[in-house]
Amino acid sequence: MQKVLIDCDPGHDDAIAILYAATHLDLVGISTVYGNQTVEKTTANALSLATLFGLDVPVAQGCAAPLAGRLRHGGDIHGKTGIDGAELPAPDRGTTGMHAVDFIIEMASKHRGELVLCPTGPMTNVGMALRKEPRLAEWLKGISLMGGTTQIGNTTPVAEFNIWCDPEAADLLFRSGVPLWMAGLNVTRQAGIGPADIDRLAGSGPVGDTFAGLFAFFLDSLRQVHGLATASLHDPCALLPFIRPDLVTYREVPVEIALAQGPTRGMTVCDFRTLTPKALENIQGMARPNCRVAVGIDGPAVVAHIVSAITGWSGRKLPQPGPA
Ligand code: RIB
Ligand code: CA
Repeated sequence: MQKVLIDCDPGHDDAIAILYAATHLDLVGISTVYGNQTVEKTTANALSLATLFGLDVPVAQGCAAPLAGRLRHGGDIHGKTGIDGAELPAPDRGTTGMHAVDFIIEMASKHRGELVLCPTGPMTNVGMALRKEPRLAEWLKGISLMGGTTQIGNTTPVAEFNIWCDPEAADLLFRSGVPLWMAGLNVTRQAGIGPADIDRLAGSGPVGDTFAGLFAFFLDSLRQVHGLATASLHDPCALLPFIRPDLVTYREVPVEIALAQGPTRGMTVCDFRTLTPKALENIQGMARPNCRVAVGIDGPAVVAHIVSAITGWSGRKLPQPGPA
């Protein structure tokens, strides 16, 4: 079973990614980063989610701010807690005490050649780990990220939030030589949970009830801010290459991160051109392909598979309520 470590900023869709990974893969660790809220809040959310799901998985807290540039949070979408819409249980465990950057390095060293990192928030932890331990790029089997876009952005006309928060960190990933998979907004927005899915989750058990509340809030936020009709399952799409590769189509192309200050900062520049040698006489050639970019998805099938993972979650029993 594929070993994965999710580096996340829970976050409504991060929460689904954790459950989806725990259902179908060998989730060996969770690391947290700022993004949808402060790193203190995303860490508290990760611990509460691991408690709710009954997961025996270590959680390591990570970076509170980007490598460069100003700190911004996604509270406008995910709310004051970073995961508004349902009451999560108080955590029944603490973090590992190790910084996420060191935790990522340690887990990659322990599972050499077997571990896939799945960043679903700003990529500051992973970028710092690659810079701190140059051998990390050889130890990792791959990095499958939610981020970027081949079409329109969300945070700016051309940039997606996870990349936009820390383009310098993302640049370290895309230049690392590690095998990359990228699930961008161009596909993740096709996998959206709607009111009928939320109704299916409600009443399906404690985890389903929690997600019904979370996604009702998330859907309302996305409707109000982006005018969307469904709540995009962005983050679990990063796991699809290892769970349901039949539902996504990829093209391996050169991807470069735009770093310059200005309207394109944080853009994932994907080069889909098909050039002939003759073309190279007059135009800029292509760089070496460095990423499998998702270009097609069976959105409804992805949503159905993820909803089934939630309604079918049979994890360990929930923490018993304390004495009355
Ligand atoms: O742009 C979507 C991404 O930003 C998702 O990871 C969501 O959780 C937020 O972090
Ligand atoms: Ca996220």
